[in-house]
Amino acid sequence: MQFLTFIFYFTVTLFLFVNVSHAKGKNATSILVDQSGKGHFKTVQEAIDSIPSNNNKWTIIHLNPGTYKEKVQIPKEKPYIILRGKSRDTTVIEYGDYGNSMESSTFKLFAENFMARGITFTNTYDLGKDEAKKVTWAPAALIQADKASFFGCGFVGIQDTLADLTGRHYFKNCYIEGSVDFIWGYGQSLYEAKSIGLGKAYITAQGREREQDTNGFVFKNCRVTGSGPAYLGRAYRSHARVVFYQSTFDNIIAPEGWDAWHNKGKEGESTFAEVDCQGPGTNMSKRVKWEKTLSSEELEQLAQNESLTKTIVVDQSGKGQFTTVQQAIDSIPSNNKQWTIILLNAGVYKEKVMIVKEKPYIILKGIGKSSTVIEWGDSGNSMESSTFKLYAPNFMARDITFKNSVIHVNAKSVGLLNAYITAQGRESDKETNGFVFKYCTVTGTGPAYLGRAYKNHSTVVFYRSTFDDIIAPEGWDAWYNAGKEESITYAEVDCYGPGANKSKRVKWEKKLSSEEMKKFIYAKLFLNQDNWIEEQLKHV
Ligand SMILES: *[C@@H]1O[C@H](CO)[C@@H](O)[C@H](O)[C@H]1NC(C)=O
Ligand SMILES: *[C@@H]1O[C@H](CO)[C@@H](O)[C@H](O)[C@H]1NC(C)=O
Ligand SMILES: *[C@@H]1O[C@H](CO)[C@@H](O)[C@H](O)[C@H]1NC(C)=O
Ligand SMILES: *[C@@H]1O[C@H](CO)[C@@H](O)[C@H](O)[C@H]1NC(C)=O
Ligand SMILES: *[C@@H]1O[C@H](CO)[C@@H](O)[C@H](O)[C@H]1NC(C)=O
Repeated sequence: MQFLTFIFYFTVTLFLFVNVSHAKGKNATSILVDQSGKGHFKTVQEAIDSIPSNNNKWTIIHLNPGTYKEKVQIPKEKPYIILRGKSRDTTVIEYGDYGNSMESSTFKLFAENFMARGITFTNTYDLGKDEAKKVTWAPAALIQADKASFFGCGFVGIQDTLADLTGRHYFKNCYIEGSVDFIWGYGQSLYEAKSIGLGKAYITAQGREREQDTNGFVFKNCRVTGSGPAYLGRAYRSHARVVFYQSTFDNIIAPEGWDAWHNKGKEGESTFAEVDCQGPGTNMSKRVKWEKTLSSEELEQLAQNESLTKTIVVDQSGKGQFTTVQQAIDSIPSNNKQWTIILLNAGVYKEKVMIVKEKPYIILKGIGKSSTVIEWGDSGNSMESSTFKLYAPNFMARDITFKNSVIHVNAKSVGLLNAYITAQGRESDKETNGFVFKYCTVTGTGPAYLGRAYKNHSTVVFYRSTFDDIIAPEGWDAWYNAGKEESITYAEVDCYGPGANKSKRVKWEKKLSSEEMKKFIYAKLFLNQDNWIEEQLKHV
């Protein structure tokens, strides 16, 4: 039974891949900005202004190295822009406006779907002075739009350096420097910053207002350096949420660690936590009493957007860390919380592979369905004989064929002997499980039943699949549940091929309304309500 679950995973993900690659195929326009006049424009803002409003095509603006002394703004009507510098050391956008936490920002983003790479955004107000003139708002960047990501960028300023306002934002390998509340706002963001540099400082001022708000700042694998003492955060709003995870603190953290600020007396409402951090600044003995200890579940939730930081290569000729798939799996610590990609170089891996329950967050990635094969020939037991056995949650496989010389399964075709294709075990109306086969091809030698009811609410749907002439005319079997067919949901919708003739099917096969059908065939409604598939895909 184990292998059947699989078909379902594959078909659903396959479907999503199609969409993703389509999106990638879009042609991007590119514009060059060069201060000496060798490009299309000399300033960044001119390049942005040249893009038509409401464009839906990605546009890359390349910035040749230089210090662009200008304020830059991307208005709401200009989504799909990529700003690309050579590196954050050589490509800088800077200005020195101050006094207003919004208006003064050197860079302002209001458009969705934005990406920046290799650029430092700086607010020069008061920078590099020993005696601060007057600490006031002087943001380097303000981000008020959904889906913005920053890779290898820098954000430098004194106060409110990075205004991370509304939307979902991802920062990877960025450098963020400031002194006062230098990352603030209501954003829902994940920072995987290389380093955070500071003067005397509050590193964060997070503004979550209600328990149910999903925003918060998570700092993962960050390094906090500079000259202290620095507070990890102070609560800008009542339910502020800031977590440092597996980060390294130099000896510059104020012993108390956190400051309740506007929220004195209601400290319990904030979530401030340090988890698995290292370095001289992590001594917790003098920390505020109200710092939270997160349960592993809470942590998992917060860190669920964490990207992959680990890859293991398996290669049969010895060019990787391991030569078998199972060795690679065995090398991952139990109860790990970090996504791990196991990259399988081309080859036929002749082994049985098992991922035990304690090893979640594994991605098995091959080179291609025809070149990476895991194969074994065991038979006789529906559980034990399986070539591949998965017991851990949060798993993903891509571009691999799992093969049993007796029963052959892959994304495109289901080959069978005399067989029941499915035996689904839903036991009540309330369970959300079931098997959905979408765009599958069923081949082999029949006769085969599409399913038999292992439990009384068994649910199996074939959608737009192709059946060779091997399907038993009745199609389905009530099995243990003869007489109770009413509660079984078996359906075929828009299937083709010689096996799809329904004239002799059991009378109790369900006819699903289009509304009922949607529930099954849209991954979003059926199993991907919280977008975990896209979350996973992003990492590969
Ligand atoms: C993008 O468009 C340009 C010019 O129209 C063309 O030369 C190029 O091949 C296109 N690229 C893709 C990936 O379609
Ligand atoms: C932590 O700090 C306390 C006092 O501030 C000190 O007694 C203790 O040794 C420190 N622990 C470590 C591991 O440095
Ligand atoms: C992770 O990101 C997704 C979408 O980008 C969001 O829905 C989810 O709530 C985020 N999780 C956390 C803990 O921030
Ligand atoms: C289905 O099976 C479950 C578990 O055996 C049982 O509790 C339930 O009453 C059954 N429902 C129907 C409609 O037979
Ligand atoms: C389906 O099968 C019935 C009898 O088994 C036959 O009469 C009918 O022509 C078939 N329909 C198609 C479209 O082949």
